[in-house]
Amino acid sequence: MGISLAVVLVKLTLLTALLEATARIAAAQSKPGCQSQCGDVSIPYPFGTGNDCNISENFFIRCNTASVPNKAFLTTSEIEVVHISLDGQLSVLSSASYDCYSSSGRNSYSISGSPFQIPVNNTRNKFTAIGCDTLAVVRGASEEYATGCLSLCMELADVINGSCSGIGCCQTAIPKGVRGYNITLGSYLNHSNVLADNPCSYAFVAEHTAYNFSNSDLGGYDLQKKQFPVILDWTIGSNTNCSEAKEDKNNFACKENSNCVDSEISSGSYTCKCFEGFEGNPYLSNGCQDIDECQTLEPKPCNMTCHNFPGSYNCSCPEGFQGDGWNNGTGCSRPINKRSLTNIVLGSSIGFSAMLLGITLLYLILKQRQIAKLKEKYFQQNGGNLLQEKLSQREGCGEKVKVFAAEELKKATNNYHESRILGQGGQGTVFKGILPDNRMVAIKKSRIGDHSQVEPFINEISVLYQINHRNVVKLLGCCLETPVPLLVYEYVTNGSLFDHMHNVAGASFLPWEARLRIATETAEALSYLHSAASIPIIHRDIKLANILLDEHYTAKVSDFGASRLIPSDQAQVTTIIQGTFGYLDPEYMHTGQLTEKSDVYSFGVVLMELLTGQKAVCFERSEDKKVLAMYFVSLMKEDRLLEIVDPRVLNDGNLEHLKEVAALAWKCVRMKGEERPSMKEVAHELAGLQAMEKHPWGKSNLHAEEAEYLLGKLCNSYDNGVSSSSVGYDSINNQVTFELEGAR
Ligand SMILES: *[C@@H]1O[C@H](CO)[C@@H](O)[C@H](O)[C@H]1NC(C)=O
Ligand SMILES: *[C@@H]1O[C@H](CO)[C@@H](O)[C@H](O)[C@H]1NC(C)=O
Ligand SMILES: *[C@@H]1O[C@H](CO)[C@@H](O)[C@H](O)[C@H]1NC(C)=O
Ligand SMILES: *[C@@H]1O[C@H](CO)[C@@H](O)[C@H](O)[C@H]1NC(C)=O
Ligand SMILES: *[C@@H]1O[C@H](CO)[C@@H](O)[C@H](O)[C@H]1NC(C)=O
Ligand SMILES: *[C@@H]1O[C@H](CO)[C@@H](O)[C@H](O)[C@H]1NC(C)=O
Ligand SMILES: *[C@@H]1O[C@H](CO)[C@@H](O)[C@H](O)[C@H]1NC(C)=O
Ligand SMILES: *[C@@H]1O[C@H](CO)[C@@H](O)[C@H](O)[C@H]1NC(C)=O
Ligand SMILES: *[C@@H]1O[C@H](CO)[C@@H](O)[C@H](O)[C@H]1NC(C)=O
Ligand SMILES: *[C@@H]1O[C@H](CO)[C@@H](O)[C@H](O)[C@H]1NC(C)=O
Repeated sequence: MGISLAVVLVKLTLLTALLEATARIAAAQSKPGCQSQCGDVSIPYPFGTGNDCNISENFFIRCNTASVPNKAFLTTSEIEVVHISLDGQLSVLSSASYDCYSSSGRNSYSISGSPFQIPVNNTRNKFTAIGCDTLAVVRGASEEYATGCLSLCMELADVINGSCSGIGCCQTAIPKGVRGYNITLGSYLNHSNVLADNPCSYAFVAEHTAYNFSNSDLGGYDLQKKQFPVILDWTIGSNTNCSEAKEDKNNFACKENSNCVDSEISSGSYTCKCFEGFEGNPYLSNGCQDIDECQTLEPKPCNMTCHNFPGSYNCSCPEGFQGDGWNNGTGCSRPINKRSLTNIVLGSSIGFSAMLLGITLLYLILKQRQIAKLKEKYFQQNGGNLLQEKLSQREGCGEKVKVFAAEELKKATNNYHESRILGQGGQGTVFKGILPDNRMVAIKKSRIGDHSQVEPFINEISVLYQINHRNVVKLLGCCLETPVPLLVYEYVTNGSLFDHMHNVAGASFLPWEARLRIATETAEALSYLHSAASIPIIHRDIKLANILLDEHYTAKVSDFGASRLIPSDQAQVTTIIQGTFGYLDPEYMHTGQLTEKSDVYSFGVVLMELLTGQKAVCFERSEDKKVLAMYFVSLMKEDRLLEIVDPRVLNDGNLEHLKEVAALAWKCVRMKGEERPSMKEVAHELAGLQAMEKHPWGKSNLHAEEAEYLLGKLCNSYDNGVSSSSVGYDSINNQVTFELEGAR
């Protein structure tokens, strides 16, 4: 009885000590004598509530004691704070904006009055929109930034829980440097086809883990009441960077044992961070305390003696032991007599060597067999049989596809070295290769472990195998003996149209005449695919990045991974919608009806981009391309085309011709496929215009600054409920493939 009581007492004492230690750290986070908690929110200095508890006005927390539990608000705003972290971020609550089509109204939510920014590192927050006919735009408060996304669906059954890829739910990153935002909700199809069980559109900004899409959210009104956490970045100072702030000793926020870090988000401000090996609040005197690694690290780093000192620690062995003292090193051990050790090693090593030799030989033989087997396995797995089957069906068309050996291509690309990467796309990586005969080739390697990529590869081989057109990239061969299949193409030297339109390093400016010629060549290639080949081929993924330019700036259409062969005058209904979102024919997206006119739509978007050039960079993200098409058409209707035409081609091209090309682009992106011209008509019209164009190559009268100015103005100015963005995005992620259940 006495003993167990003693144990309990010891336990209690330990517990109290522990609690005290925790309390000391927690209390140390706010300024001494200041309230450290408001409801569930801890308030570390430089934040504070009450007199002289905050470092400056921006860091004042208003604690509303009228509610239970108490609620914390940012300065004088209505923005509720739910968490403050000393690493420079805080979490606030936001509501969803909604727009209910029938009666129950609209609400446009905005965050404003925040002194802090939504971080540039926009992986933390995402803009999400939910609905079946929803165009949602988020706009920065003071900065002229906007972005948006589009969500459509025909039936709730099409919607996939957890997937925000444009059906029922869409998601996009937040433009940088935003302090507050406004959300605008609109309709894409004019609410003409709204489902009864989707009464509202919703849009909100939230930390990306805070919301998982569920199709039940399309159905109800629940999201109107929901609140989501948004991460904001906070920094100290205005117009003072670290080097300046350090000069002003009295007001410098970073105390002992801490570093000052210049903010990447808002220049002229900073944050503080405890030195390595210290922890605590760097904004308070003695806030950063040494971490006693000997006590806290688990598992214990030292084998015997651990020595803690400010900022670090080390391990050693006591007298009479040898070793470095580290458990991840040699530890500590008693020295072994040297002579006996040598004998053991010598004695065993002779027999051992012989054995080793035998094992190595056996291993090598087995390995050789294994490699051969593996190659065969890869060949099958990579669709070797499928290919043989496909090719045998079409005996006698085109040249034979050469089959390359795996080693040959490995050597050609310097073992797929990073420096050889030409580009990365939805289907894999393209490397530059140099064959033993010094011929340059492009080698496409699909993503490792992604066997869904095999079919597109085989598809591409069988399509390209039968095409021979000067404006279509040539397939030289393939290799199927590797873990992932490889395709070998002719090397096209001058990059893609995307590089040239986006000023990617090394890409030159394309004058109007060149753009018109490239457009004509692309149209001719597509027209050939649609009508001249024995079975019509629909490319399905026409976009700037898939139009390559050779040394004479001749267009070469590439990337046939998504292409389809379709028996003439017979539309095909596909259950898998494929392509790049911004370029996707909306009619095809809705019905799954694949016709040549889908390529015409995508080509129309390309034409618009050729006309708008640098200005289209505002619409860089693929979702924005839809908006570009809408915006372009709305300007055309009002005869305000010049506002969006690339200023550098305005001087260069004949204005009447520009307008004719614009009118053609407009026809190509008509909603109804049957109203769009055929690729043959498009090619014919472009060829006619090209013949009339007289201007010399390379002429450009407008100065760069002037162009830049006009460009900046456009990116910031348009205001028709459409969006723009100047943030760089990963175009790979914009590749969409989704399934239409029971496609009509
Ligand atoms: C703390 O915030 C309040 C309210 O904005 C402000 O009046 C006060 O000056 C701030 N304290 C300091 C030290 O700046
Ligand atoms: C951006 O955020 C991610 C995830 O939070 C993080 O891993 C990454 O280090 C951050 N990058 C920068 C530059 O802050
Ligand atoms: C949001 O829009 C409203 C009305 O259009 C405007 O008054 C307000 O200033 C905007 N707020 C922000 C943060 O842009
Ligand atoms: C949208 O609907 C309105 C009224 O229902 C109609 O007047 C307008 O023409 C429609 N617009 C489009 C582009 O269909
Ligand atoms: C969303 O799903 C992830 C992974 O399944 C989970 O970790 C997270 O807690 C979920 N978030 C919410 C708000 O349910
Ligand atoms: C999606 O999730 C909701 C609830 O989270 C559930 O009611 C619904 O059945 C799920 N739908 C599918 C297609 O899994
Ligand atoms: C800090 O600001 C001053 C004046 O604005 C500038 O001269 C200096 O280069 C800046 N230092 C850093 C590290 O950015
Ligand atoms: C460990 O650190 C202490 C204090 O800095 C020093 O005296 C000692 O020599 C160090 N030992 C080793 C093995 O580095
Ligand atoms: C052992 O771990 C320490 C601390 O993580 C590290 O500094 C040291 O380099 C490691 N030593 C070895 C031999 O890996
Ligand atoms: C110390 O190192 C020795 C030898 O590496 C090992 O056997 C022993 O378990 C280690 N002791 C501790 C406490 O980790």
